[in-house]
Amino acid sequence: MKIRIFKDKDAVKTSRCIVKSLKQVSSQYYSSRVIAHLRKRNLPRALAERAKNCTIIVAEEKNNIIGTANLSNDGWLGAFFVDPAYIGRGVGTRLLREMERIAKRKKFKAIRTHSAVNAVGFYKKNGYRLVKPVLFKGVGKTYRMFKRL
Ligand SMILES: CC(C)(COP(=O)(O)OP(=O)(O)OC[C@H]1O[C@@H](n2cnc3c(N)ncnc32)[C@H](O)[C@@H]1OP(=O)(O)O)[C@@H](O)C(=O)NCCC(=O)NCCS
Repeated sequence: MKIRIFKDKDAVKTSRCIVKSLKQVSSQYYSSRVIAHLRKRNLPRALAERAKNCTIIVAEEKNNIIGTANLSNDGWLGAFFVDPAYIGRGVGTRLLREMERIAKRKKFKAIRTHSAVNAVGFYKKNGYRLVKPVLFKGVGKTYRMFKRL
């Protein structure tokens, strides 16, 4: 598996990975309205547009995109997804470590994220502190997580 920076030609495969995760995992925790909203925000064109303003990384395996994450220019992590077929195999940890490396290189002092209710354990395992629950517009309940770099 290789972790690398997203290229525009990855947009379709990256979006497919995200939509698969939304349908198979996130739909167990969030309403169909929220899933539809998140799907729309992660369609290929939206990803290519977002890549202009933030850092997107992908995990690539055998010419497939099996995971992805975003880092905004002010140190917020988002759109973090691993293909459900690869969950629990360390892909998420490798994506997170790479984002932390990128954030340090950009001289960020910390990383923040709004974690989905189901992902809090993953962030805690990786050294993130739960700050507080936050009702996020269009999504609902999330948890603000923080890690000093
Ligand atoms: C959350 C997610 C990114 C984690 O990716 P992953 O590749 O499965 O994570 P890893 O295999 O690297 O797991 C690392 C550790 O965290 C733990 N962990 C992973 N997901 C967890 C969860 N949801 N709750 C509690 N612990 C979790 C693992 O057990 C593992 O611990 P170990 O080292 O003792 O075995 C992935 O499950 C996912 O894509 N979920 C659906 C989308 C989502 O909710 N994204 C987050 C949006 S904020």
